[in-house]
Amino acid sequence: MAKLRWGMIGGGEGSQIGPAHRLGAGLDGLFDFTAGALDHRPAEGRAYGQRLGLAADRAYGDWQEMLAGEKGRDDRIDLVTVATPNATHFEITKAYLEAGFHVLCEKPMTMTVEEGEEIVKIARATGRICAVNYGYSGYSLVRHMRAMVARGDLGRIRLVKAEFAHGHHADAGDADNPRVRWRYDPAQAGVSAQFADCGIHALHMASFVIGQEAERLSADTVSCIESRELEDDAMVNLRFDGGAVGRLWTSSVALGRQHGLTLQVFGEKGGLRWAQEQPNQLYWMPLGGRVETIERGEAGLSPEADRTSRVTIGHAEGMPLAFANIYADLAEAIRAEKEGREMDPAANLYPRAEDGVRSMAAVFAVAESGKAEGAWTDARPPMFR
Ligand code: NAI
Repeated sequence: MAKLRWGMIGGGEGSQIGPAHRLGAGLDGLFDFTAGALDHRPAEGRAYGQRLGLAADRAYGDWQEMLAGEKGRDDRIDLVTVATPNATHFEITKAYLEAGFHVLCEKPMTMTVEEGEEIVKIARATGRICAVNYGYSGYSLVRHMRAMVARGDLGRIRLVKAEFAHGHHADAGDADNPRVRWRYDPAQAGVSAQFADCGIHALHMASFVIGQEAERLSADTVSCIESRELEDDAMVNLRFDGGAVGRLWTSSVALGRQHGLTLQVFGEKGGLRWAQEQPNQLYWMPLGGRVETIERGEAGLSPEADRTSRVTIGHAEGMPLAFANIYADLAEAIRAEKEGREMDPAANLYPRAEDGVRSMAAVFAVAESGKAEGAWTDARPPMFR
């Protein structure tokens, strides 16, 4: 089958996440980068798109022009990635889904729970894919953790401990820098800063790996830098619907920590530990045994891990390849639909709009609980209560 056609909104020159998407989408030769509205400045977006190889008539000035242009083409794009700032996700994702496009939206999917529920309903009604880029769930060993939990290696899950704590906004002297300040300004960031930006990655990963969803939570939120209106640190206790207890720490003032996404899962029969900065090793401690190192790419791993591992054991794979795994899942889903067949179940793991709205509900629950001295709060969106 011919390559699928891929378009991108946002991710312009100098953006943080644009290059990782282009690397990820391009890696396996499954997608051709065909159309883009890459920048909030139309001329810069058009010029950059063409420098990246887009045809002049498909390097668009804005997302509305791209929607109008692509909608009418026989060779329209198969998938569009929305990698613009958060407040624009809802409007763009909604418009493309309604026009019949499959969408991969950056996180957070929306700014409110209501918008999130609307996106879920539109995706269901149109039958289009609305994926959300919890890209770290694409790592091979994260998928292996999930498979180990699902096949019962750990027994009943007692505890899950997730962290996403970095130190990149720890400089009080830099807190007024406009590039940092907006993140802690409710008018621009919404009800939460650090939890909405990073905490939701950790929460998604915990849910993804243990196969349980957050039911209620209690949050201690603080602004360690006092001038900030929104939290730069949060400790969140969780109860999951399958009985697991969750502990989640997220911070942007943890000096010395770089990316800081880690996951530990403790069951009755064993424990697992994984860290995003060393993603090629997974530590497994079976009850009564010794800690073992599971290497990405070794023989005998799960089909989900084999499918998402590319270079041989001992050679590092990193974040753009995790994103590539999300794109490979989406390519398989789109191809299966075109070919009228079932998709490979090992690929049916990409995060969805349902995950996006669950995150938004958790964001609002953390904000509410934080204001109420940690009162236990329902973490579910109304549609899943
Ligand atoms: P950024 O500020 O570095 O780049 C944003 C890009 O979008 C710029 O090129 C800008 O010109 C363009 N843009 C803004 N408005 C636009 C519009 N209306 N139409 C077209 N282009 C527009 O932002 P960054 O850090 O790349 O974040 C983008 C999104 O990706 C955010 O939602 C963020 O939360 C998410 N993100 C996700 C990560 C992940 O691990 N999944 C990691 C980093 C960011």
